[in-house]
Amino acid sequence: MNIDDLYRVVRERRTVKVLGTVDEPTVVPTEVAMIRDAQVREAVLAAGMAPFHYPRSKEIAEPWRAYHLWNEQTNALATYLSEELGDKTKIPQLCAACSALVLITWLPEFPGAEEEKQRVIEEEHIAATSAMTQNLLLLLTGHGMGNYWSSGGVLRTPAFFDHLGISTGERLMGAIFIEYPEMSDDGHVRKAGALREKRSTEWVRDLG
Ligand SMILES: Cc1cc2nc3c(=O)[nH]c(=O)nc-3n(C[C@H](O)[C@H](O)[C@H](O)COP(=O)(O)O)c2cc1C
Repeated sequence: MNIDDLYRVVRERRTVKVLGTVDEPTVVPTEVAMIRDAQVREAVLAAGMAPFHYPRSKEIAEPWRAYHLWNEQTNALATYLSEELGDKTKIPQLCAACSALVLITWLPEFPGAEEEKQRVIEEEHIAATSAMTQNLLLLLTGHGMGNYWSSGGVLRTPAFFDHLGISTGERLMGAIFIEYPEMSDDGHVRKAGALREKRSTEWVRDLG
């Protein structure tokens, strides 16, 4: 492994929000989708090598779940959100522009727990899912794919989970909007993360 490459990917990862048009959504050519969708699938599985502290269930130990939505589905979603739900946020435009969307959820085990041990387990389920999510962003960056970790807006509502057949016992960790490099030269509006320029190194200290 080349450590410089690893640093480069960590430093190059950045939020790229791509806003499209619901009436004229981005269409990923089949030959591009064949290669890139497979890379996303592989990246999601590799992201699942993140650490996790507590087994969430006997059947599936990991505390996270991931759901792919490919280009045709994100385009249909853009129309559904905009026209049927009347969603006025940027989410339909993001769905219209993206090449793929990965929804990452985590599974609460002790909602509303007062006992400290249970609260710690809950926090560590979130921490592990967050690590898995960042793994995915780094792998997408390494593939040259634009990516944006969004809280999800309407996508995090129980009604939307029901619509997709996701259990409402799950909580959205992030809606990861992905843009394949072949689709990036399209004149869409692109926005950076609002806090990108606020970064510092003031959060680190030597103790003692
Ligand atoms: C848990 C989480 C949720 C986020 N949700 C949103 C969001 O809903 N809207 C948004 O504009 N950015 C969201 N972001 C992205 C941040 O705005 C972005 O990371 C920050 O501005 C720094 O920019 P950078 O990612 O380019 O370094 C989210 C980031 C995280 C970690």
